[in-house]
Amino acid sequence: YGCQMNIHDSEKIAGMLESLGYSETVDSKDADVVVFNTCCIRDGVEQKISAHIGAFKNIKKLNPAQIIIVCGCFSQENEKAAMLKSKFPFIDIIVGTHNIHEIKQLLIDYISNKKRIIDVWENEKGIFENIDILRTSGKNAWVNISYGCNNFCSYCIVPYVRGRERSRDMIDIINEVKDLVAKGYKFITLLGQNVNSYGNDIADTSVNFANLLTKLCEIEGDFRIKFLTSHPKDLTSELIDVIANNSKISKAIHLPVQSGSNNILKAMNRRYSREKYFSIIDEIKEKIPNAALTTDIIVGFPGETEDDFNDTLDLVNYVKYESLFAFMYSIRTGTVAATMPNQIDEKIKNIRVNAVLNLAKKISKENHKNMVGKVFEAFVDKIFDNGTGEAILDSGKNVDLISNNLTNEKLNNFVNVKIISFSNNKFVGEVI
Ligand code: 5AD
Ligand code: SF4
Repeated sequence: YGCQMNIHDSEKIAGMLESLGYSETVDSKDADVVVFNTCCIRDGVEQKISAHIGAFKNIKKLNPAQIIIVCGCFSQENEKAAMLKSKFPFIDIIVGTHNIHEIKQLLIDYISNKKRIIDVWENEKGIFENIDILRTSGKNAWVNISYGCNNFCSYCIVPYVRGRERSRDMIDIINEVKDLVAKGYKFITLLGQNVNSYGNDIADTSVNFANLLTKLCEIEGDFRIKFLTSHPKDLTSELIDVIANNSKISKAIHLPVQSGSNNILKAMNRRYSREKYFSIIDEIKEKIPNAALTTDIIVGFPGETEDDFNDTLDLVNYVKYESLFAFMYSIRTGTVAATMPNQIDEKIKNIRVNAVLNLAKKISKENHKNMVGKVFEAFVDKIFDNGTGEAILDSGKNVDLISNNLTNEKLNNFVNVKIISFSNNKFVGEVI
């Protein structure tokens, strides 16, 4: 239901289940075990989860032996876990985010005792290594580099449900990536709530994100490193240089700005100004001309005026993002912003989110048209019998490869592609 971190947790849960002999069903109605790995970042997601879980009341009547597990960020919150427990008595196991690694043992316990298990840890307890992972993302492999978040942006529930920031041991990360590259993965996506503060909780100052990237680039093989998510306050010049100077590092940079207004950024506790953000963007554009910049934006944060919102539109116009995500502010109980005065009307949030999305769409189209005639790196993921193919650009967009008589040796390789055209939302290009 949630972010890449949530999806990767699901891969670990699937790995644990597979090690017990389970395999994936086509239809969840037939499943022996159903796991809901939940999210609580916004209200809409929560409602969707409740509806999906609710539907299993009747499904379980037809398949009473079915075991239902709920875990993840939604069930990590005490009140939400209590609600799940009372409203859905057919849920057999409830855990939070901190003890997902226990699901395998809890399932074994449940099968032998048939006693409902509610086991939500109050706090995080370090990092758990050596969990089986059933990878589901093709040539991409997700790799956790840190867990939790210390930033406490005033709107955000993540620090409350994922705990304090814990960085994984650099050696463990390097070994995992070496193994993945040897297995043929072509994209390694490093995951953390704030990847560029990696190592801040470790006394040895050489353990930092720039050094981690440099070390990962030394691993032999033709692969690209991606990373999610960066916080502007921790994006240093040193890090921009490392990204710029290493061909193995993807130039797709997701840099959530959240708002273009200094007043709102302050109220959000983001700890950078609009001007600071612009200076980072200028430096990235200067040092990394092919950077594909993306962002997250929240509209309708408490107290957001028309002027504040116009500052956001202005910022979007300046940066010219490749694409962006825009969200309507959603009250998260327990966060600082939840009790702020001047909460914004849903209708205004709706108007604003559409305005940002429309502007972003227009800019994205202009960016894509400007790519025509230029050369970009792309990963060939399909070759057809007639010698044409398909590739994925650094930004994740697809490009149709034509008029090249492509042979299979190009498959699963990085090539340079000249963009010939962009129309109807499709790139066409040729390998050069
Ligand atoms: N309301 C709306 N959007 C939110 N996000 C985080 N918390 C909230 C909230 N309470 C958005 C931010 C973040 C993304 C993952 O979700 O934009 O970057
Ligand atoms: Fe939430 Fe801010 Fe941490 Fe991102 S950096 S997870 S928005 S608190």
